[in-house]
Amino acid sequence: MSVIVSALTKHFGAVRAIDDLSIEFREGAITVLLGASGCGKTTTLRCIAGLEQPTSGQISIGGETVFASARGIDLPPERRDLGMVFQSYAIWPHMSVFENVALPLRAKKLPAAEVAERARSTLTSVGLSQQIDRGATQLSGGQQQRVSIARCLVADPRLILMDEPLSNLDAKLRIEMRQEIRQLQRRLGATILFVTHDQEEAMSLADEIILFDKGQVVQRGAPEELYFRPKVRYVADFLGKANLFPVTARSAAEGTEIITDAGIVIARGSVSGASQPGRALAMVRPEAWRIEPAEAAGLAGKVEETTFIGDRRELLVDTPIGVLTVMTLGTRSLGIGERLTLTVEPEFMHLIAEAA
Ligand SMILES: Nc1ncnc2c1ncn2[C@@H]1O[C@H](COP(=O)(O)OP(=O)(O)OP(=O)(O)O)[C@@H](O)[C@H]1O
Ligand SMILES: [Mg+2]
Repeated sequence: MSVIVSALTKHFGAVRAIDDLSIEFREGAITVLLGASGCGKTTTLRCIAGLEQPTSGQISIGGETVFASARGIDLPPERRDLGMVFQSYAIWPHMSVFENVALPLRAKKLPAAEVAERARSTLTSVGLSQQIDRGATQLSGGQQQRVSIARCLVADPRLILMDEPLSNLDAKLRIEMRQEIRQLQRRLGATILFVTHDQEEAMSLADEIILFDKGQVVQRGAPEELYFRPKVRYVADFLGKANLFPVTARSAAEGTEIITDAGIVIARGSVSGASQPGRALAMVRPEAWRIEPAEAAGLAGKVEETTFIGDRRELLVDTPIGVLTVMTLGTRSLGIGERLTLTVEPEFMHLIAEAA
């Protein structure tokens, strides 16, 4: 189901929650709206759902205009053919699991046999076939959230809006549910707009991420695109950890030469991002650094801090261009005070066109 938002604006008094936002969402894919608290993610979703009336702009769903301020069009939520799942489970505590999921079908006045059939098969698809007759409150948090997902899916919406549906679950369940949502999306071919402020959740779920800041889109693209090739510092900082330092790019015989402010040539060859010679901000992800012996050529460093995280070890390394974050395998032991050299392959360095 296509979703197109054009020139959407929503003001709450003096607060501009959304400001002239235009986005065409990808059909049959999971798009994650990501951004810091208060940047307008929930408001955008609620405007699409019809739960919030925009100040101005247009919204169309599946080719139908559902909101157009200029033409006075504003369809109510139930006429927008979509399903929603929120952070709070919002299930009826006094009803059984089955009744919770059957409710939207009963509201459509479908025959009892069809209601029973569809509620049961949807509950089976979210892994709750054993809990169908339980009271809704006799379930764990994760199971309750699956009930609300089943209740959304049972009506077969082709557009599903999810606002932080996993944030109340514990870490392990959250990761399982991400996989379930991806599998469900593939099976149904539905369009899902998923809101989160958790960058790891965004990267692991999304076909496309739209990163918001102050009611505006900063960058959109595949998770890898935003992670490896951020256009601005904000994106580099928001997704994962980034080492950022000012450099000068200079044309040389072997391609571009990247020189740090400490006068060290740190990369030679083809780097991504800003292609013009001159000042830029270089980004190197912590896992992209190569740790070489102290006598090697590169950035001389001294380990200041090490944190063991199991599969990996995070180091803070003091170098002539500042303290850098370096990720290495957990099995590699490096002590505080140890001297080493950091190098990076040019393909793992990305330049952002803004002077630091
Ligand atoms: N009903 C409301 N009345 C007044 N201001 C509101 C209302 N709803 C949202 N806002 C304001 O609009 C802005 C955007 O809020 P929104 O809830 O969309 O942010 P969000 O990106 O979903 O944040 P979070 O990650 O914290 O959920 C915020 O400044 C918020 O305070
Ligand atoms: Mg929100």
